[in-house]
Amino acid sequence: MDEFERHGIGVVSGRDACVHALRSPGLTSDPGGGSPSVLLRDGDGHARVRGVLREIIAGLEPLPDSVRAAIEAVVGGLGTSFDLVRDFARPVAGAVTSAVLGVPLDDVFLDHLEKTTANLDVFGGTDRAGQASAFRLAVQLSRTPAGPGGLTALRAAHAAGRLDDDELMLNPVVLAHAAYENSLNFLACAGLELASSPTPKSVRELVTSICPARYVLRFGPDGPLAVSLTDGLPFGLGSHACPGSGVALAEGEVALGALAKLLDGGCQVQDVRWKSHPVFHGLASAQVVVSV
Ligand code: HEM
Repeated sequence: MDEFERHGIGVVSGRDACVHALRSPGLTSDPGGGSPSVLLRDGDGHARVRGVLREIIAGLEPLPDSVRAAIEAVVGGLGTSFDLVRDFARPVAGAVTSAVLGVPLDDVFLDHLEKTTANLDVFGGTDRAGQASAFRLAVQLSRTPAGPGGLTALRAAHAAGRLDDDELMLNPVVLAHAAYENSLNFLACAGLELASSPTPKSVRELVTSICPARYVLRFGPDGPLAVSLTDGLPFGLGSHACPGSGVALAEGEVALGALAKLLDGGCQVQDVRWKSHPVFHGLASAQVVVSV
């Protein structure tokens, strides 16, 4: 029996069954409880909040030159020995998340953002540390002065009556987490593939085979279901399908293209450690030593 079954969560796998589940009007993303998060609701409220987030994300399509330059600067500063998570994936995903919100994000912020993953605990959110991190970031962002970008756009949407108070409080963190966590995991895993295998793959092939978000949760008449994304659906499907997939792919093109050049002459990978989250698949650390 796997971890999902032990918690009374059914598993849907196989591409056709997953496509069907993700398009099914009989399944919802709303676990009940009236969350203001875009991820945990459906219907008009979901469409309204998602519309605001989509407008924000569109501001990064195509990826602005300043964001490309920030990503290239991260890879340019790697040197000949570095950790794929700490030195590559984390600052790249952090730079893009910072551009999405339009505010600088320091290491303390990113640490808390990573801890909020526990808040998305599919087994009932028992990790209070994760919830505390999400709450702390929501309060911090609500007090942060912001220039042009997502946070200012969310505040403008609130002022225009498009978001209520609770939606304005929570969705900046939801957006930051969505932009950060899967990209962090994707970039690190893809970096490991580049470092370990000589066969080049496109960024889309990499994201499909790595599939950093392994499942999405849905709720039906018979209880919760974990719908697998590993059969070719890395960005999900249906009304919650990732609205940031274009940004994620562009970010991957720039970061992985620059990394591939750096690793062109060969490298060694040591101390590969994996995270153990049931949904978010990612590396904890991997040391790369570039051949000189
Ligand atoms: C490789 C990187 C990424 C992967 C694999 C990924 C994957 C996903 C998946 C599977 C969902 C659907 C969740 C569900 O159905 O419950 C999702 C939702 C979402 N993603 Fe992404 N994502 C990535 C990067 C990004 C980026 C860079 C952004 C923002 C710029 C973003 C913003 C969002 C938002 C706002 C949602 C919520 C949409 C909704 O609930 O309607 N994602 N993502």
